[in-house]
Amino acid sequence: MFPSLWSFGRSLVRMLLTTIVTDLPMDFDTDPQLQAAYDFVVVGGGTSGSVVASRLAEVPSWRVLLLESGGSATPETAVPAFSLLAMDGDNKWDYRVAPQAHAQYNFKGHSSPYPLGKGMGGSSSINLMTHVRGNKRDYDNWAHLGNLGWDYHSVLPYFRKSEDFHGKVTNDNSEFHGFGGPLSVEAQSWSTPVQDALLDGGRELGYPVIDPNGYSQIGFSALDLTTHRGIRSSASESYLRPNIYRKNLDICTHAHVTKITFDDYNRAVGVRFLRKGEKEQEVFVSREVILSAGAVNTPQILLLSGIGGRHQLHKLGIFVNADVPGVGANLQDHPTVYGLTWKIKRGMGQNLINMVDPSVFADYRLHKRGVLTSPFGLEGKAWTSLGYTVDPAWPDLEFTVFSAHPALDNGFRIADMMGFERKFFGRYFSPLFGREGFTIAPMLTRPKSRGSVTLSSSDPTEPPIIDPNFLSSSEDVDSLIDGIKFSLLLGNTSSFRDALEAEFHDQALPGCEDLPYGGDAYWGCYVRHMTASSYHPAGTCKMAVAHDPMGVVSNRLKVRGVSSIRVADASVMPVLPSGGLHAACIMIGEKAADIIKEDWGVIF
Ligand SMILES: Cc1cc2nc3c(=O)[nH]c(=O)nc-3n(C[C@H](O)[C@H](O)[C@H](O)COP(=O)(O)OP(=O)(O)OC[C@H]3O[C@@H](n4cnc5c(N)ncnc54)[C@H](O)[C@@H]3O)c2cc1C
Ligand SMILES: *[C@@H]1O[C@H](CO)[C@@H](O)[C@H](O)[C@H]1NC(C)=O
Repeated sequence: MFPSLWSFGRSLVRMLLTTIVTDLPMDFDTDPQLQAAYDFVVVGGGTSGSVVASRLAEVPSWRVLLLESGGSATPETAVPAFSLLAMDGDNKWDYRVAPQAHAQYNFKGHSSPYPLGKGMGGSSSINLMTHVRGNKRDYDNWAHLGNLGWDYHSVLPYFRKSEDFHGKVTNDNSEFHGFGGPLSVEAQSWSTPVQDALLDGGRELGYPVIDPNGYSQIGFSALDLTTHRGIRSSASESYLRPNIYRKNLDICTHAHVTKITFDDYNRAVGVRFLRKGEKEQEVFVSREVILSAGAVNTPQILLLSGIGGRHQLHKLGIFVNADVPGVGANLQDHPTVYGLTWKIKRGMGQNLINMVDPSVFADYRLHKRGVLTSPFGLEGKAWTSLGYTVDPAWPDLEFTVFSAHPALDNGFRIADMMGFERKFFGRYFSPLFGREGFTIAPMLTRPKSRGSVTLSSSDPTEPPIIDPNFLSSSEDVDSLIDGIKFSLLLGNTSSFRDALEAEFHDQALPGCEDLPYGGDAYWGCYVRHMTASSYHPAGTCKMAVAHDPMGVVSNRLKVRGVSSIRVADASVMPVLPSGGLHAACIMIGEKAADIIKEDWGVIF
């Protein structure tokens, strides 16, 4: 609503941070002199790309170039409590979700902003830092679909290799964790009474407290975060910063890749990019191009390079190098129901005032503890398998509990960040202005709906069309209704009612007022009006067996129809994991690097 005031606030925060945080994100904007050719060019300095580039550069004879469209991560990304600022600033693409036919009815234009990370670290520099790998069965399912080598037993070593675990080690979970890896993971050390109520409420409903990355994922949990001494450990900070001394690794920021070029045999030989927006240049590649531009931009680059469905490319006048119809198809994202809010007693929840106390900054600076170490409002998660059909240990719903609500800032900024229609927002949320409260957000772990990423234009600087096609499968609506009912049960446990005086905001939802309050039809209407993205795009260059017509990469991550290009990022996931995507993208980067080394005969 007040963007200039907001960006002024952000500048103030940045100035303040440069004086109190000693460990700000590294400056990668060194504008290096590039060589004419490299053995490997990695496109995208985000989550998977940082891992791939750093691991490939371990081979001294390989010259590796990393090209990143954005710049260095800004100071506010370092501090977990400023995660809202981080995802709203200069570290993201200005993307929106295409207008949704089946969901987001209370969002402006049935759409919303889609803040994917841009700049070093990519989405790992702006995400909420929760470390949830997903379920054993997610990866066993990838293998079951024909992707040899991606079962849980085969990927667990890479989750462990990446990790430097500082969370709580028990007899049950130690075999699942890694120690001494590049990515620091810490137990969330600050929380409000909402977290206690959550874990107690879970026990009341018969659920254990678990480590979701351990043996079983059905239960409740406080969170492990990808932080190091209370500071965000993004992929670029964890993987690239310690490798910056390597002479064979060049990192070039503000380099927006436009196209891959081929020889007459469809072998990738070069990468074109716009450096600092100036005229296009090209570097040559003697071994391979690795695309790690994320599940939106990786298919975009392939399409711009003439790899994709013939019809789509023809329409835009792009020469077809390989007819691969799966490029950009199979888009999946976890749908989340936003807006289920409870009012609570004052002093029990998260509050912006908590953060402006000078002692808070002193404590953070000296001891790396306190409210600033925790992503704003995040208290914990739960996983259930109420509607399971396959396996009761494979969660179909994840619940995130926030000690904050969308109206916490009285409509100042959060409403627009989430993309709510303003009139609706005022009508439904204004009774919560100035009130403390908590939200339970049910998220579907394995939605049935599938969407797509397509080109809007052959201009590589134009955003692609991102259509997750949320709730196009009505089964997704039914599962989310179950999710709402479980949330209501949880919010009404005596743990929440007695300790916090929790009271559900039970005003009829604008758009659903004509339906009998609280019935299935009402909650179904609520789902269609209030469901939107978790910012987890994946699947747009699906890894699949050769006879699957919609597959894009093999289990060795090689792109079909051409040679010397692989994809390593969220795009290759055939099906979403039952958690966040960050840990899985790190794992994919680690495994991709070993596959590449193996294929080139490097002993490791
Ligand atoms: C706001 C938000 C909150 C999230 N919260 C969590 C969470 O708490 N836990 C969790 O597990 N997951 C979370 N996620 C999801 C997770 O962080 C991402 O799915 C994951 O990091 C994606 O990794 P990636 O490697 O596929 O892509 P990215 O990390 O997005 O990297 C892609 C990189 O490629 C660059 N790029 C794109 N196009 C080009 C081009 N043409 N030329 C050069 N470079 C290019 C981008 O700028 C970017 O740096 C969140 C995501 C977001 C956006
Ligand atoms: C909450 O639980 C109490 C006691 O179990 C019950 O009487 C009440 O009806 C419940 N309220 C809602 C809204 O479900």
